[in-house]
Amino acid sequence: MIYRQLGNTGITVSEIGVGCGGLGAGRKVGLEPALEYALDHGVTLFDTAVSYAEGASEQVLGRVLAGRREKVVIASKFGTVIPPGGDAYKDFSVGNLRASLPVSLARLGTDYIDVYQLHNPPPAVLEDRRLFDELDALVARGTIRAYGLSIDDCATACRFLDATRGRAIQININLFKQKERPFLAEAARRSAGVIIKVPLAGGALSGRFTRDYPPPGEERRARWGEADFARRIGLVEKVRPVLERPGRTMGQGALAWLLSFDAVSAVIPGISSLEKMQDAVGAAGMRLTAEEMRTLDEMGGGEIRALNLSW
Ligand SMILES: NC(=O)c1ccc[n+]([C@@H]2O[C@H](COP(=O)([O-])OP(=O)(O)OC[C@H]3O[C@@H](n4cnc5c(N)ncnc54)[C@H](OP(=O)(O)O)[C@@H]3O)[C@@H](O)[C@H]2O)c1
Repeated sequence: MIYRQLGNTGITVSEIGVGCGGLGAGRKVGLEPALEYALDHGVTLFDTAVSYAEGASEQVLGRVLAGRREKVVIASKFGTVIPPGGDAYKDFSVGNLRASLPVSLARLGTDYIDVYQLHNPPPAVLEDRRLFDELDALVARGTIRAYGLSIDDCATACRFLDATRGRAIQININLFKQKERPFLAEAARRSAGVIIKVPLAGGALSGRFTRDYPPPGEERRARWGEADFARRIGLVEKVRPVLERPGRTMGQGALAWLLSFDAVSAVIPGISSLEKMQDAVGAAGMRLTAEEMRTLDEMGGGEIRALNLSW
């Protein structure tokens, strides 16, 4: 494994982390052996949220990490509330922060969270001084080591870094979603940590999607719509000759593209099997050559570079 600094937070992370969205529910049950494999192979970064899988994600992580707490970096999130049987809503009040943090700590079986992230807040939340005073106090008490923001746009991420003491940004950038790529330079300028969510474009960049997989109606396919899904499959075949090489799978090539940017601290692919965890861990230390990076940037007159495919 290769380790990188999470900006100037003083926290070191494995460059391959694990995205634990959905962990413990649906197609992401029974993944304990995959998590054990990651731990045994030097992965230290695990990303979750109080709202993921109705709490199962944090609970599974807590069980697997028991006895190894000091060796890992837990990134969790607050601010998305999903009432049982109800619709999700956002709540970034100090009251909800004070309610959510103990829940996450109990489920994770720990008394501190390394990186506590605001989970896609509206920009106005960044002006709430009470909230950031509270987060600063939690850092001072050691209940959290650092705080950050999970967001999808460069402008809000920069505003967060400029207006608060939060030093870590989780952002959605991948080969098929490059609109926020300029943020990497902004983050480097501000010595911020950068965690890359959705590094495989939801699985499309694994190169394993076909007309029949995921099946019609599956959650991601339904979210993207059929035209977008078909477009992803077509785009994969354009980049495959650059990403896939003897000894490097397509998915590893897509992760290596991200790891080729110095500003990136870690990528957190959402793992769905032991085999995929092995594949992701195998991408540690892989980088694309300058020529491969240039080929992708220039492909189709900049077609790939201009992509902004949604989550
Ligand atoms: N708002 C937020 O804060 C937010 C939003 C989204 C995501 N995230 C974070 O980012 C993480 C990752 O996001 P994501 O799961 O949506 O997208 P992703 O990492 O781009 O894609 C994950 C999918 O790719 C496939 N896959 C994963 N590893 C693979 C490998 N090594 N080889 C081949 N296929 C592989 C799996 O699909 P199949 O099983 O179908 O093969 C998996 O479900 C989440 O778990 C979460 O921690 C945060």
